[in-house]
Amino acid sequence: MKKILALVAAMAFAVFALAGCGGSQGADSSGAKVLKVGSSIDFAPFEFQDEGQKDYQGFDMDLIRAIGKEMGYAVEIQNLGFDGLIPALQAKNVDAVISGMTINDERKQNVLFSAPYYQSGLTMVVRDDEQAIQSFQDLKGHKVAVQIGTTSAEAVKKLGGVEVKELNTPADCFMELKGKGVDAVVNDRPVNDYYIQKSGATGVKALEERLTSEDYGIAIAKDNADLQKKVDDALKKLKENGEYDKIFAKWFGEKK
Ligand code: ARG
Repeated sequence: MKKILALVAAMAFAVFALAGCGGSQGADSSGAKVLKVGSSIDFAPFEFQDEGQKDYQGFDMDLIRAIGKEMGYAVEIQNLGFDGLIPALQAKNVDAVISGMTINDERKQNVLFSAPYYQSGLTMVVRDDEQAIQSFQDLKGHKVAVQIGTTSAEAVKKLGGVEVKELNTPADCFMELKGKGVDAVVNDRPVNDYYIQKSGATGVKALEERLTSEDYGIAIAKDNADLQKKVDDALKKLKENGEYDKIFAKWFGEKK
């Protein structure tokens, strides 16, 4: 009897030990490895959800699913507020973040980043009839909307003399602009362009001038260099085998 009990205890221990050895990434009920990914689904064409559609779509979504596939992981995407993404990584609620997130030194103090996967930068959107604002310097003395926790928020504060309204999503910012609660929106160029060209926005225009040049990266918890390497290897593979270019062309047209 004692022997049997000892055996059962040993087996139970082995099961627990095995369950715990997958690193921070878990497994689903079928035993497949799962990569838990956080994203702020409010940033077309990188991450968005069409009305009545259940799947999240966009460049980032296609890219992370392809990376997961390459790594042999099922990808599970969680929609979180942009300013909650890095905290979610730190709390280990997600394994990785893909969200048009700019790689910068401040964030690097808290998370690891993959190699850059998209080159971006900030532009602004104003109303069609706007005369006073033609360049970033003209923002002084005006009200400007930005998404909270973004590089736009930081950059506009740095300009000085601007009244900054930090809202939850870019859509909230554009609404505020149309409702004349602000005179400009500062946001990432490809998102502004998509908003103007693809979503049929009227009464507003994007200006050409770029305030910054920024690279997007996939963020990973500071202590998970192992996952960072896996992601980088997969990204490299996708760049080599043409899969990255395919996804790029799907959302942005052929690369210039
Ligand atoms: N690139 C900017 C940043 O890193 C904005 C990203 C916003 N992303 C989003 N999914 N809303 O701060």
